[in-house]
Amino acid sequence: MDIPVLHRLALNESPFPPLPSVREAMRAAVAEAHRYPQFHPDDLTERIAAWCRVPPARVAVGSGSVGVALQLLHAVVERGDSMVYAWRTFDAYPLLASMVGARSITVPLSPDGRQDLPALLAALDHRTRVVVLCNPHNPTGSLITADDLVDFLRRVPPHVTVLLDEAYVEFARDTRLPDALALLDAHPGLLVLRTFSKAYGLAALRVGYGIGSPDLVARVRRQQLPFGVNSVASAAVEASLRAGDELERRVESVTAERERLRRQLVTLGWRIRPSHTNSLWLAAPDPVEDGAAALAAAGVQARHYPGEGIRLTVGSREANDAVRTALAAVGRDRMSGGDAVSVARSGGVVRA
Ligand SMILES: Cc1ncc(COP(=O)(O)O)c(C=O)c1O
Repeated sequence: MDIPVLHRLALNESPFPPLPSVREAMRAAVAEAHRYPQFHPDDLTERIAAWCRVPPARVAVGSGSVGVALQLLHAVVERGDSMVYAWRTFDAYPLLASMVGARSITVPLSPDGRQDLPALLAALDHRTRVVVLCNPHNPTGSLITADDLVDFLRRVPPHVTVLLDEAYVEFARDTRLPDALALLDAHPGLLVLRTFSKAYGLAALRVGYGIGSPDLVARVRRQQLPFGVNSVASAAVEASLRAGDELERRVESVTAERERLRRQLVTLGWRIRPSHTNSLWLAAPDPVEDGAAALAAAGVQARHYPGEGIRLTVGSREANDAVRTALAAVGRDRMSGGDAVSVARSGGVVRA
């Protein structure tokens, strides 16, 4: 019997629907849906640039941050070049590499779930065009500190573009978090990638942006699809920027829930490292297969990487409580040294 999905915690989405003011802006934009959006999203670019306190020439807006990443690859990669990144990471990177005919060179994560910066540097050669860093990291939630990032950037050869994916940066509270925008002047080959999909809760609307040197940004913009950012999405982003304080409070509540859930699961015996994203990473050798089955049986859709781990998005309090209840039996069982609980193995855990 299929178990209905009660809690969607597989895609690192926000648990909050759009704010009333954002919905209202979208409704107004829908009324004008017979009109094209701007050919290129110049107004939105200016708004985002002002909000980030950088000149507009440093900002490229696209169809989600994944769209901006593809624009960058189109701009700098030639067929047969290579792209280096840690694995695991965000699933789109291998797909984007193959879309532009790049060879993917992957470097395993260190055992504690961090991107192995020395090994990534060692993997760069004369055919490498792009190295991707994800900070904080998906799926493990680990952080590259400011010191480590500065050291890494210093060592990257000038023919390699660094794509610094900061999709989750708003959830990071650690004082060692790099101020990536402050590094742009010294590193013209750096593109910082951000999104409105995660902290700002607009995943369906597909707006992301890259910030970099004016030269690199100009190349990225040349790959922009005309009319590629729709008016409803632009209106929602502009309204979100006006509601910064309310959205910041939502982010605070997600990070508070993240810490609460982590403490609870650690108490149950799960060894979960601190996370700097809106998700927690349950890793083998903790009993992740049993955990995945228990979550599925409870109607919790999490992201399961068989044999590796579970990425669990921090959801509403109710969803997080359902997670705790589902994993309690598995954790208790493991701590007492017994066999893992027997639970239904069908249901909502997302695989692949
Ligand atoms: C690390 C990372 N980068 C980018 C994205 C995609 O974001 P967007 O919705 O802006 O394309 C995700 C989505 O899960 C992600 O985890």
